[in-house]
Amino acid sequence: MTSRRPNAPSPHFRQQVYEALKAWSADPGAGGTLTELRLTQQELEAGAANARQATNRVLLAGLKALASTYDRDAFLLRLRFLDGVQTHQVANRFNAAEPSIYRWQSQAIDRLAALLWQQEEEAIAQRITSLEARLEPASYSQLFGVEAHQALLLAQLLAPSPAHLISISGIGGIGKTSLADSVLRAAIQRQPEAEVAWVSARRQRFDLGGRLHSLSQPALTVTALLDALMVQLLPGVPRIAEPGRAMAALRASFARRPTLLAIDNLETAADVEELLPVLRGLANPARILLTTRHTLHGEPGIFHLNVTELSEADALRLVRQEATQRNLSELAAASDAELHAVYQTVGGNPLALRLLIGQNHVRSLAGILNDLAAARGASVENLYEYIYRAAWSRLNELCRRVLLAMPLTPPSGGDLQQLMAISGMTAGALSDALTELVTLNLVDARGQSLHQRRYAIHALTRTFLLEQVARWM
Ligand SMILES: Nc1ncnc2c1ncn2[C@@H]1O[C@H](COP(=O)(O)OP(=O)(O)OP(=O)(O)O)[C@@H](O)[C@H]1O
Ligand SMILES: [Mg+2]
Repeated sequence: MTSRRPNAPSPHFRQQVYEALKAWSADPGAGGTLTELRLTQQELEAGAANARQATNRVLLAGLKALASTYDRDAFLLRLRFLDGVQTHQVANRFNAAEPSIYRWQSQAIDRLAALLWQQEEEAIAQRITSLEARLEPASYSQLFGVEAHQALLLAQLLAPSPAHLISISGIGGIGKTSLADSVLRAAIQRQPEAEVAWVSARRQRFDLGGRLHSLSQPALTVTALLDALMVQLLPGVPRIAEPGRAMAALRASFARRPTLLAIDNLETAADVEELLPVLRGLANPARILLTTRHTLHGEPGIFHLNVTELSEADALRLVRQEATQRNLSELAAASDAELHAVYQTVGGNPLALRLLIGQNHVRSLAGILNDLAAARGASVENLYEYIYRAAWSRLNELCRRVLLAMPLTPPSGGDLQQLMAISGMTAGALSDALTELVTLNLVDARGQSLHQRRYAIHALTRTFLLEQVARWM
C-alpha cells in the first residue's frame, strides 16, 4: 500500500508553516494552520490546552531539531517569529544586509518545513502501526478476486453515505474476515486520523493443518462488546459497567473523530437480537463493519455485501500462489486442466483450497481430492464440521430436505420450478426453506430478476452433501 503523501513538502505546506510561525503569539481563538497535522493531534492528546498551543509545541520541536543541523536558521526563526524581533534589528545582530536576512529566513522556513514534513511522516507511520495493532494478524499474504468488493466497502466506510452498518456475509471460510481486515487496513492508510476498533465474536478456529480449536473466550455479549470498544478507543478511561453510560462515552469519542468498528463473526454472539440495537446506537457517526455467516436481510438500514465462492480463474491463482509460497513446485506448475479437478471438488472456498494445498506436502493431489469427496480423514471431517455443522444444526426437516436435493441441480443452479420438480414440495414450503438456506449462506440466490432467481450451491457444499452429511443425520 502506498503512502498517502508525497515525499517532499508542497509549497502549500511550506506556506502553512510560515503562517503558523507568524501566528506564534496570536489569540488561541483565531484558528490557525497546521492544526490538521498528526503532530498537532499528538500534542493535543499529550495535554496541550488548545490548537494554538499544540501548533506552537510542534514548531518548537521542529526548531529544536533544526538547530542540531542548521543552528543559524533556527536562531533566526526564533528571533523573528518567537521573539518578534524586526528584520532590520536582526540584520544588525547578524551584521548583514536586510535582503540577506530575508533570503536566509526563506531558506530557514524551507528547511523547517522539510523537517516538519518528515516528522509528520514518521508520526503518521507510527499512528498506522498502532492502529493496525488493534486488528488481528492478517491470515493471508495476497487476496484474489476481491478488488471490486474492497473498492465498494472502502467507499462505504470512507465516503459520506447513509449506511453506517455494513454487513459482509457468506459461508464459513469464504473470506469475510480477510476482506474486512484488508478494507480496514486500506482505510487506516487513507485516513490515519480515524479511530479503529476490532472485536471478535469468534468461538472456533480452524487451522490450515486441519485442526479445529475451540476458543476460550465466552460468547460476545453487549457488556463484553462495550468493554472491548472502551479498551481500544478510550484507553485510560476506567471501565464503565452501565451500558447506557459506556455508549454515551463512546459516542462522545465518535463525535471527535471518524471511527471505524469491526465486529467479526457476529453470528456467534450470545444474542444477536440484543446486540443489534446497541450497534445501531453506536453507528452514525461511527461506521460498523460486521462479518457474519448469517445474512441480516431482515434488518433495515444495512448495506449488504455477500461474499460467494471465487471464480475458477481466481481459485487457480490462489492455488498457484499458495503452492509457490510453500515450495510445492509440482502443484505450482500444474496446468489449468490438471487443476480443474480441484475446482470441481472444492470450488472457490479459500479456506478449503488452502487446507488442500497444505496437505499436498505429504499426499498426492488425487488422494486429497478423493478424501474430500469421500469425507475421509480427520482434517476433512474437521473442515466440514467447521464450515457446516452450526448451520446444519439450525435447519428444520424441510430445509434439510431442500438442501439435500440441491446436488441434483446443475452447478449453475435451478429455478423454483426445477426445485419443485426435484423436491416434490409446494412453492410456498420451498420458498420458506430457500429463504432460510440463503440466509445461512448454504445456498446462493443468483440472477438479478426476482422471477428468474436461480438457486445454487458451492462445489464444496455439493461435495459435503454427497457424503459427509449422511453421517450427521
Ligand atoms: N480472496 C482470497 N484470496 C486468498 N485467500 C483468501 C481469500 N479469502 C480468504 N482467504 C484465506 O482463506 C482463509 C479463510 O478466510 P477467512 O477467515 O477470511 O474466512 P471467513 O469467511 O471469515 O470464515 P469464517 O466464517 O470461518 O469466519 C484464510 O486463511 C484467508 O487468508
Ligand atoms: Mg471469519
